[in-house]
Amino acid sequence: MRPRASHVIAITLLAASAACAPAPKAADAAADKQPTASAVVTDDNSPQSLADGKRIFREDTFGDEQFWTDTLHLNDVIEKAVDPTTALTVGLKVDADVPPPGILKKVDLKSPATTVALLKMNAIVGVRATVDANNHITRLGVTCALCHSTVDNSVMPGIGHRMDGWPNRQLNVGAIIALTPAVTAAQKAVYSSWGPGKYDPRYNIDGKNNPLVIPPAYGLADTKNETYTAEGPISYWNAYVAVTQMHAHGTFIDDRLGIRIEQTPDMVTAKLPALRAYQHSLAAPATPAGSFDIASAERGHRLFDGSCASCHIGGKGTDNNIGVMHAAAETGMDNAYALRTANKQYRTTPLRALWQHAPYFHDGSAATLADVVSHYDRVRKLGLTAAQQHDLIEYLKSL
Ligand code: HEC
Ligand code: HEC
Repeated sequence: MRPRASHVIAITLLAASAACAPAPKAADAAADKQPTASAVVTDDNSPQSLADGKRIFREDTFGDEQFWTDTLHLNDVIEKAVDPTTALTVGLKVDADVPPPGILKKVDLKSPATTVALLKMNAIVGVRATVDANNHITRLGVTCALCHSTVDNSVMPGIGHRMDGWPNRQLNVGAIIALTPAVTAAQKAVYSSWGPGKYDPRYNIDGKNNPLVIPPAYGLADTKNETYTAEGPISYWNAYVAVTQMHAHGTFIDDRLGIRIEQTPDMVTAKLPALRAYQHSLAAPATPAGSFDIASAERGHRLFDGSCASCHIGGKGTDNNIGVMHAAAETGMDNAYALRTANKQYRTTPLRALWQHAPYFHDGSAATLADVVSHYDRVRKLGLTAAQQHDLIEYLKSL
């Protein structure tokens, strides 16, 4: 599909939302409902709440079709040009439990019509579409699962059973947005630069570009503040990303960032408690048996206690739970992303299932755990021998 002038709509969320900002009084009332850093969270872990949260995480677009359909026209792009092979190439995943058994091996993976058929049966993870009787995609939106779920590749790479909370490190969100006619050439260059598994959740707000590694959404039950920069508790961030990034129809207000978006009906706020309970229920996947050397990891554990546990409390924890943030220089990080956030510093990342989600650090600057250890050895002048580095890596693999 060729870009048409009438479709060249800048993805400047603030401009769009400012136009429909309501009277300040209503905005203040909504601000009271925003989760705050001091909120004590008690999850409703009833089967009903967890089932609701799972459905919201997997299926709810919160009305974000207003962006993905009305602004980006991604529905047209997919219908005309995205066959399943292309979809898999940009990291989209197919839920093998939805189509009739065996059929995926027989369909034409080179035909866009197959993509439409898969969307019609809700088999593409994190993408929801309405398909009419003539097989036209009339509405299309995305869900949390787009970035925070993957599949186990049991049928073929990219096709298998869903794994919620596992970051989709193949997903090239930037490439997908760059396919649409709504982006300018300059925006297209930025979106195309991100690559798989990365996304900048502030580019549309401040125009700066420091893509982040999509993190796991599992293993967060004991973490007080979410994100690499500890912006706030989980529901704060869920509301931020839903409203400002997925472009959900809802409310998000943060005066620290100068963002006030209020759209009625608010299709986000009421869903946050169940969504939080579901995310908190997602345990980090267990370390595969035999995937690390136990004796070496024990030695590494002692090194970790000496050099790392002051921040990574107890191995899996974070000193952010006791209120600490870190200047980028303390861990030899690039400051650029932190400077764009409310706290201007980084949170000690809670270490969970490290074996599962390379690359590491907010910007993916360490491709492997060996890179993580040699980075720390250098910037924190630890003077570790090669054998000690090996032991530390084995310990990190065990977490
Ligand atoms: C387009 C991809 C994308 C979508 C869609 C998305 N996220 Fe994220 N998510 C990210 C990125 C990138 C980050 C890292 C942000 C940061 O740390 O500053 C993140 C961070 C998170 C975190 C913090 C993890 C941690 O270690 O603290 C949670 C939890 C989360 N997202 C849940 C959700 C939920 C729930 C939704 C749906 C409302 C959602 N995300 C939608 C990309 C996405
Ligand atoms: C001064 C506090 C501090 C110390 C000491 C420290 N870390 Fe970190 N660690 C951090 C912070 C902050 C981050 C987040 C950095 C970022 O992504 O920008 C981090 C991130 C990490 C990550 C990346 C996790 C992920 O999922 O991306 C790993 C792995 C890690 N640290 C391991 C270690 C090891 C091993 C040591 C000891 C050699 C160590 N850390 C020492 C604060 C610390």
